[in-house]
Amino acid sequence: MKKKFYVTTPIYYINAEPHIGSAYTTIIADIVARYKRFRGYDVFFLTGTDEHGQKILTAAQQAGKSPQEFCDELAEKFKKLWQDLEITNDYFIRTTDETHMKVVQKFVKKMKENGDVYKGKYEGWYCVPCESFWTEDELGENKTCPSCGREVRWVSEENYFFKLSKYNQKLLELFEKNSDFVEPDFRRNEMLRILEKGLKDVSITRTSFKWGVPMPDDPEHVIYVWIDALINYVSAIGYTWDEEKFNYYWPADLHLIGKEINRFHSLIWPAMLMSVGLPLPKKIYAHGWLTFNGQKISKSLGNAIDPRVLVEKYGLDAIRYYLLREINFGKDGDFSEDSLIGRINADLANDLGNLLHRTTAMIIQNFDSKIPKPLKKEPVDSQLIFGSLETVQKFFENMDNLKFTQALENLWQFIGFSNKYIDLTEPWKLSKNGDKDRLATVLYNLAEALRIIATLLKPVMPRTSKEIYSRLGIADEWDKVSDEALKEWGMLKSGLTVKHGEPLFPRIDPRKFEKVTVSSKKEVKEVAEELNIITIDDFARVDLRIAKVLEAEKVEKSEKLLKLKIDLGDLGERQIVAGIAKYYKPEELIGKLIVVVANLKPAKLMGIESQGMLLAAKDGEKLSILTIENQLKPGAKIS
Ligand code: MSP
Repeated sequence: MKKKFYVTTPIYYINAEPHIGSAYTTIIADIVARYKRFRGYDVFFLTGTDEHGQKILTAAQQAGKSPQEFCDELAEKFKKLWQDLEITNDYFIRTTDETHMKVVQKFVKKMKENGDVYKGKYEGWYCVPCESFWTEDELGENKTCPSCGREVRWVSEENYFFKLSKYNQKLLELFEKNSDFVEPDFRRNEMLRILEKGLKDVSITRTSFKWGVPMPDDPEHVIYVWIDALINYVSAIGYTWDEEKFNYYWPADLHLIGKEINRFHSLIWPAMLMSVGLPLPKKIYAHGWLTFNGQKISKSLGNAIDPRVLVEKYGLDAIRYYLLREINFGKDGDFSEDSLIGRINADLANDLGNLLHRTTAMIIQNFDSKIPKPLKKEPVDSQLIFGSLETVQKFFENMDNLKFTQALENLWQFIGFSNKYIDLTEPWKLSKNGDKDRLATVLYNLAEALRIIATLLKPVMPRTSKEIYSRLGIADEWDKVSDEALKEWGMLKSGLTVKHGEPLFPRIDPRKFEKVTVSSKKEVKEVAEELNIITIDDFARVDLRIAKVLEAEKVEKSEKLLKLKIDLGDLGERQIVAGIAKYYKPEELIGKLIVVVANLKPAKLMGIESQGMLLAAKDGEKLSILTIENQLKPGAKIS
């Protein structure tokens, strides 16, 4: 009987398109899913989209669309992205799916029937971007959201509450009994501190808008988006509609999440499951956050790059390798193009690429492209053979414990030793001296080492793994290959025809190479000095957009500055400060469609943050802001 493995990603808010930071969880989950399939598990890998709530509703309104229409478009974009990134999810759930919405209602009804839901008045702070409630003493400086640092709003509503406090003790026991329920350790400890302080009941409905799942028997209320969202993990696999499937896959073996949503997954979700009497997930792993070239990833900084842009530039496998190898899983890390290029050149082009190239070239040259029979063994061979077996074991152990960086380190040590084996055995000398039997053994061993390396790489770098199989003449085995192929040394058959091909990973010359972003200040300056002309790509880096002026007012104590609130459509509302007070009265500007640079780094003018810049032309003492003739929608791109 096959063992099952159920792995999930968070379901993504679809108010914006994903960037490399948000794709991180999905790529990791894909690697875990492929790895478990490879180890013989019957895997169910779930991802999807979180489509209800105030944040999505506002985004839809800003885009001038109905929320459903807006979600339908965005959900397609997510699906397409995961296809393009060759993500192997078994299902894609949307919280607007009818089946899911029914399950949410049944789930909440059951919580209510079990005496865990009551009506009360909620008064407190709410962060729309995080869709989170906060108490006064949890707020950050200047009454900001402690999770994202943005403004919170006061909410006063009659709501239904979930008796989370009732589960405080049970959760404490759970954390004590299962020390690996939440990982890494420091994330588990954060949750323990919250539990020790004591949990308060949580509001689980809203009444100020309608975009959500109606509360059973009281449709004036919609169910709080987080409650709705968490239930996806059971609704997707059949809870209340396909008991057999549900009982097979539930409980989840692994919920992969980012650190900022740990509270919801490690405290609220288990309490909800306890309330309805379902088993708890086996593990919740809260990973860290990525920055991009040292900066926070955000739309307003213009670095929320579509992951496909990176994939086109560097290749899918290089990105997958880099994310696993360079970002120590669990900790925050930086996605830096410079270190990515370093890894591609050193680990992929040099270590792995050269090993393959040298091995196939020597087989082609000396054995008419046929993998030779190993006929003459020497003691150094056992180092390679033993090394391979040890590598397989350590690689599996680390992958099982989600220690990806360490697993790849083990593998690259073996790749390193395989290259060293070439230096130690000096096959070129064997060829010159006519020691064919020994040469055959050395080259067989190298080809076998490569087969093992490619097999271990199957879940992490599938394209590369397949390509190495193809070069070794075993392409048709690849699809079905599992850990059975790693049982022992020597499973590669002699006599197969190897193929020569292009380098697996061409070296990148950083001096001639154009990166996706120009990262440091020095580079920006160097580039600017070197080039008087700009390319179309340079121009495309400036995100020019149409914006509608919503509000305008003079900046106190300044003759020059006006503060504007503008609508940028999909990008939301922004505040910009412009030096046009001498030329325009605030009221003249309201309703105008203007042109702004939307990806300019925010700057402070007279202490006020400006999140963009409007365009204006000046001619002596005259100034005119750029406007447009036709009524285009705010946020429209200028190119
Ligand atoms: N909709 C909720 C999750 C509900 S799950 C029942 C949500 N969505 S999200 O779109 O905001 O975030 C989804 C995932 O993307 C989270 O795991 C989050 O940590 C991850 N990331 C978003 N930006 C990230 C980085 N810059 N770096 C790493 N992961 C980040 O929260």
